[in-house]
Amino acid sequence: MLEHLKEQPADKILMLLQAFREDPRADKIDLGVGVYKDKTGLTPVMRAVKAAEQKIWETQNSKSYTSLAGEPAYIDAMIGLVLNGAVARERVSAVTTPGGTGAIRQAFELIRKASPDATVWVSNPTWPNHVSILNYLGMSHTAYSYFDATTRDVDFAGMMADLTKGLKAGDVVLLHGCCHNPTGANLNAEQWDEVIALIKAKGAVPMVDLAYQGFGDGLDADALATRKVAAAFDECLIAASCSKNFGIYRERTGVLMTVARDAGQAKLAQGMLQFLNRQNFSFPPDHGARIVATILNDEALKADWMAELEEVRLSMLGLRTQLSDELRRLTNSDRFDFIARHRGMFSQIGTTADKVEQMRADSGIYMVSDSRMNIAGLNSDTVPLLAAAIVKAGV
Ligand code: LMR
Repeated sequence: MLEHLKEQPADKILMLLQAFREDPRADKIDLGVGVYKDKTGLTPVMRAVKAAEQKIWETQNSKSYTSLAGEPAYIDAMIGLVLNGAVARERVSAVTTPGGTGAIRQAFELIRKASPDATVWVSNPTWPNHVSILNYLGMSHTAYSYFDATTRDVDFAGMMADLTKGLKAGDVVLLHGCCHNPTGANLNAEQWDEVIALIKAKGAVPMVDLAYQGFGDGLDADALATRKVAAAFDECLIAASCSKNFGIYRERTGVLMTVARDAGQAKLAQGMLQFLNRQNFSFPPDHGARIVATILNDEALKADWMAELEEVRLSMLGLRTQLSDELRRLTNSDRFDFIARHRGMFSQIGTTADKVEQMRADSGIYMVSDSRMNIAGLNSDTVPLLAAAIVKAGV
């Protein structure tokens, strides 16, 4: 049986991890996979997470199954964190999922069940795993323009033109709620309004991927677009991740929410979400969800978590400013100012795979071949090295 298996293409983000580990150079810089690192290069366990784990260890007296939806306190806390009352609770259905990726996978499966002929529209570019999972599930998908390779901002005219031309009633439009991955370029508030109006006029359904809440402009600011979407439509899907903003990557903690027209349809959606969990993995992982619920339901822990998350966000913004200033100095131009305008962990610097490879070979800099770099992989000492490598490669 096993001899019939075909080798699968390696994930271009995860491939870099291995290559970086095998590189003997001491001054190599890892700007690949999207994990936050402090200035010593450590991906720390957040203070509130440690405290919550201690509290759980002290009080938890059973590890028996919870429910197919997962821990109710987690679900409610996440609906609060993401939606903050933007829609009536009775219209929202939700299940815990193994990470944000699990939420996306379950969302796509739900779309396939409910609307097998729908085309899923993704931004060009998008997180490569969106496309990979859609292909794996055999779902129809297409891309809308998103990134202007010259300005490195959103190609808003292109995006609107593509959706105006091709979007059909019942199609699903996948939007990044904040901190676009991989580009770092994001819609502004007015552009969100226009996109929402267009999707509504077309009778399509929005799906929001919210993986970086708190990493862009702030915890609430980063959820505003998602709340706007939820409030504007009869129906939408929201896949949210706690990997980054709680720093609990390996705990695999996510949530998939649906907003339905009314309580009756929300009940139907809840049943389907639970059914999909049961088919794919049965009960969702609990530890990360319990950490998040413990933090969000304890005033002191929540305040400490928010303070640390803000430190993380500001440190990434500081690195953005330092890098764009350094490149301004080295190139005597404003060509790289977009790095300071971008938000979140990533910026796509917009160069060829050959130049990315050249930076790796010459300077030990590891970024994804599409020229996405993880800003959080830098520190104030390595920013000048990266800037020099970018200039040397002639980006
Ligand atoms: C990334 O884009 O680097 C992260 O979301 C990690 C992943 O799973 O790809």
